[in-house]
Amino acid sequence: MKTDLSFANLAAIETELLAVVAVDTQTAKGPDARPLPVLLTSDEAVKAAAAVVLATGEFKASANETLLLHVPVGLKARRLLLVGLGKQSRATLHSVRKAAGTAVRFTKPRGIRELAFALPEAELLPPGPCSRASVEGAFVGDFNADTHRSDRRDLSVQRFVLAAPAADKTAVEAGSAEGAIVGESQNFTRSLVNEPGNRLTPTILGRRAAQMAGEVGLSWDVYSTEKLQELKMGAFLGVAQGSAEPPALIVLRYEPDGASDGPLLGLVGKGITFDTGGISIKPSENMEKMKYDMAGGAAMLGAMRAIALLKPRVRVIAIVCAAENMPDGKAYKPGDVVKAMSGKTIDVINTDAEGRLVLADGLAYARQLGATHLIDAATLTGAIGVALGQHNAGVFSNDDAAFAKFSAALETSGEKFWRMPLGDEYAEQIKSDIADIKNTGGRAGGASTAAEFLHVFAEDTPWIHLDIAAMAWIDDARPWIAKGPSGVAVRSILEWARSF
Ligand code: BES
Ligand code: MN
Ligand code: ZN
Repeated sequence: MKTDLSFANLAAIETELLAVVAVDTQTAKGPDARPLPVLLTSDEAVKAAAAVVLATGEFKASANETLLLHVPVGLKARRLLLVGLGKQSRATLHSVRKAAGTAVRFTKPRGIRELAFALPEAELLPPGPCSRASVEGAFVGDFNADTHRSDRRDLSVQRFVLAAPAADKTAVEAGSAEGAIVGESQNFTRSLVNEPGNRLTPTILGRRAAQMAGEVGLSWDVYSTEKLQELKMGAFLGVAQGSAEPPALIVLRYEPDGASDGPLLGLVGKGITFDTGGISIKPSENMEKMKYDMAGGAAMLGAMRAIALLKPRVRVIAIVCAAENMPDGKAYKPGDVVKAMSGKTIDVINTDAEGRLVLADGLAYARQLGATHLIDAATLTGAIGVALGQHNAGVFSNDDAAFAKFSAALETSGEKFWRMPLGDEYAEQIKSDIADIKNTGGRAGGASTAAEFLHVFAEDTPWIHLDIAAMAWIDDARPWIAKGPSGVAVRSILEWARSF
């Protein structure tokens, strides 16, 4: 998708489809309160073209509601699409992001390959951030997951024109350039997550990471079994040993000029390219979805791509621990004791709790490389979905200041994470009779005991843990995003890094 800017009058824009957003300004409540949709544009011609249909009350401007008008009177555009943002009081940059995605996803199945989106004009939606959100939303909306269908018709939008008032030119140019980088990076993550296990082994993931790193100017190393042995990554090796596919330890480095000291951010991602559960094998129902068990690692790669292009003044390293979790004659078994890189011994109660094992060594390695702040992302537990559903991802932290910084990043990213507890009580649940810790703490508090396991390896380095198990894959399409890989966490990790 190509993005263009137009600073012409909306009425003069020749396009197949012009999308304009509207809010519901009704504040009264009660049975007689009708929605009062108002278009967020100062363009009189567009307002006039929509006046009749708005007066009918057919269009309520509820969030992501759409209404299409053909041959709108007084406009050069062939179609005028109204997109709702919902209640005016709740219209945020994130509602704009979704509205832009909705406009793109409305356009695609109709075989229209080009649209213009009028930048919403409102006091609480400043033109720079609003342009960024619009373009991000457009890219996110443009992504489809049916990449391996042989009869696939490419319905992607070829040109997205952001139409804005000329007075906002500078802010709009900067915002939309940023939005394209962020949106494309999120889609890069989604395209990795979407790949089946046979087409995205740890080795291939390493290759894709290296290729991306080369394109955006990051330095990188992709290691395998020998390096893991050298680093004494016994936990990571334990998981990997049951697969015929060798593991990959992917390291990407972003080192901007003039930031040779100060913080070093360590991004650590779970990259299980397929999780069968190992000897503690999973039931076959829904097992196919475990191809997305590398979504945390892919999120780190997407975030690094955006970091490399947006160039914040902070050093960042990313470590993705990629392996396949398989049952085999050589596989690790329940009851095995493995020794992690940090020296801690782990009693493997359940081979399906493999994510925390690879991350244990990833976190230790990030610390060894000098990380002063850690963030990890992982499709770690089913329990997080039981707690939060598919509406919030989980965030855990050993440091309130680090959490506050992450929380601030969510304002920009528009993503929903809910803080979940760590605590000694949870740590108690993973004490082992035979080793330093065990890798499961029972069903109760499963997301928190998993987080406490990681805490043992993050130690006292300020650390954020993101459990994205229930958010990395969207089961039902929404107006602004296709079903399939969501790319969750990319934007939030990026904003967190930029806040240093
Ligand atoms: N990859 C899974 C977690 C998961 C579940 C991701 C559902 C996405 C959707 C993880 O490796 C796992 O199997 N966790 C176990 C841990 C248990 C054995 C302590 C779980 O959550 O059941
Ligand atoms: Mn598992
Ligand atoms: Zn897993």
